[in-house]
Amino acid sequence: CLWVRNLRQKRRLPGPFPWPVVGNAMQLGQMPHITFSKLSKKYGNVYQIRLGCNDIVVLNGDTAIRQALIQHSTAFAGRPNFLSFQMISGGKSMTFSNYSTQWKMHRRIAQSTIRAFSSANSQTKKAFEQHIVGEALDLVQVFLRHSADGRYFNPSHELTVAAANVICALCFGKRYGHDDLEFKTLLSRVDKFGETVGAGSLVDVMPWLQSFPNPVRSIYQNFKELNEEFFAFVKDKVIQHRETYNPEVTRDMSDAIISVIEHGKDNGLTKDFVEGTVTDLIGAGQDTVSTLLQWILLLLVKYPHIQAKLQEQIDKVVGRDRLPCMEDKSSLAYLDAFVYETMRFTSFVPVTIPHSTTSDVTIEGVHIPRDTVVFINQWSVNHDPQKWKDPHVFNPSRFLDENGVLDKDLTSSVMIFSIGKRRCIGDQIAKVEVFLFFAILIHQCSFESNPSQEISLDCSYGLTLKPLNHSISAKLRGKFLGLVS
Ligand code: HEM
Repeated sequence: CLWVRNLRQKRRLPGPFPWPVVGNAMQLGQMPHITFSKLSKKYGNVYQIRLGCNDIVVLNGDTAIRQALIQHSTAFAGRPNFLSFQMISGGKSMTFSNYSTQWKMHRRIAQSTIRAFSSANSQTKKAFEQHIVGEALDLVQVFLRHSADGRYFNPSHELTVAAANVICALCFGKRYGHDDLEFKTLLSRVDKFGETVGAGSLVDVMPWLQSFPNPVRSIYQNFKELNEEFFAFVKDKVIQHRETYNPEVTRDMSDAIISVIEHGKDNGLTKDFVEGTVTDLIGAGQDTVSTLLQWILLLLVKYPHIQAKLQEQIDKVVGRDRLPCMEDKSSLAYLDAFVYETMRFTSFVPVTIPHSTTSDVTIEGVHIPRDTVVFINQWSVNHDPQKWKDPHVFNPSRFLDENGVLDKDLTSSVMIFSIGKRRCIGDQIAKVEVFLFFAILIHQCSFESNPSQEISLDCSYGLTLKPLNHSISAKLRGKFLGLVS
């Protein structure tokens, strides 16, 4: 009978035994990506777990993930129809919507808008870099203020404001001060976004938990509220743009998106997709970049000899009389290597946003039916001992050859922006932002940690891994090269 056939088919997928009702939820632990990697040793790189009533396939390791996301790119381009995904960006998110003709159009518009405001020509490139330099210099001053009288502080909020300001400047032509309380409060709430949409979050796979008075219910409620609040903030700005729209002058990304969606050729997208797109870009552009900068600062204070070596190189290449700029990047290979090693070592987006299959597909001999939720374990690629010598050791020099030149083959093996049809569309702007923030921060300041506290790499799990209890102090190196505010 059909039931027995279904059961047999399901059995064909390897994986741990799922318990009734909860499945394997209780086995995930605090760090699901580590559990997924351990399970791959027993069940292979493609296996199935069950969370609540959802069968989920987990992909591990470079080969299986590339086979799936590149060779079978369309089959893996879907997103699950999780309830939480529908709460994002006013229900008009590109990032969290399933594969469709409309999604393809939506993604193309978002992608070309990013390009138009960051790399289309030398003028936009310069304007984009200028925003970042301004934010980086502001950050230096804020850090120095927080470090007055030998104090130590947690830089995470300030980094979030700085990264959010870069993307807000692109989207709205407007930035916010570090002491703008309303903006800060909004961002600190959005900080919790990744807890709900990260792979292994249980709210979507056990929706019945909502009907009990328990913490999961409040997670859903909080998630809904934070998305509504964030969306309202963006919508307000988009409405102002709509009211003052002039087809002759494209002031920023909001104008550009209004122009394509509302005044361009019919592309099947209604005007509320404008708000959805802008919310997506600000959300994606802020949390990821600021989390990477947090890890960079943490690793700089954990390895002071590496910090000193970076500063030695930057002083040699840039000198002390001007700020580092993008043109210095190719001469600062060790700095680039440090960024790649931070992305590899922390794998701070350990598992991508959940995917789902758009058709039946077979990976490494394992048959995966259509509409299966798929978790892609990027951490496993970055910690594969076959690929990386001592993967658990932080060593930026692994990316440099004997002449100190960056090994491009190796840097492209780091998986943090995902690959295939759903790969990140902000990777280029993220790399420019991180390079400039990082170079300017260590050119202008030295960082140290509180000697009375052990430096821990403990972190919280979610779509991004965020360091816990992180406190640093900044000291000016020589003279400040910005305008004093
Ligand atoms: C998607 C990483 C910065 C926009 C993603 C995904 C990852 C990722 C892992 C999910 C891919 C998948 O599901 O397979 C990162 C990292 C960043 C970063 C590590 C910084 C270091 C940015 C920035 C923007 C951006 C600055 C834009 C302003 C997006 C968008 C998507 C996405 C729109 C959704 C793509 C889709 O679903 O088709 N990113 N990202 N990201 N990212 Fe990024």
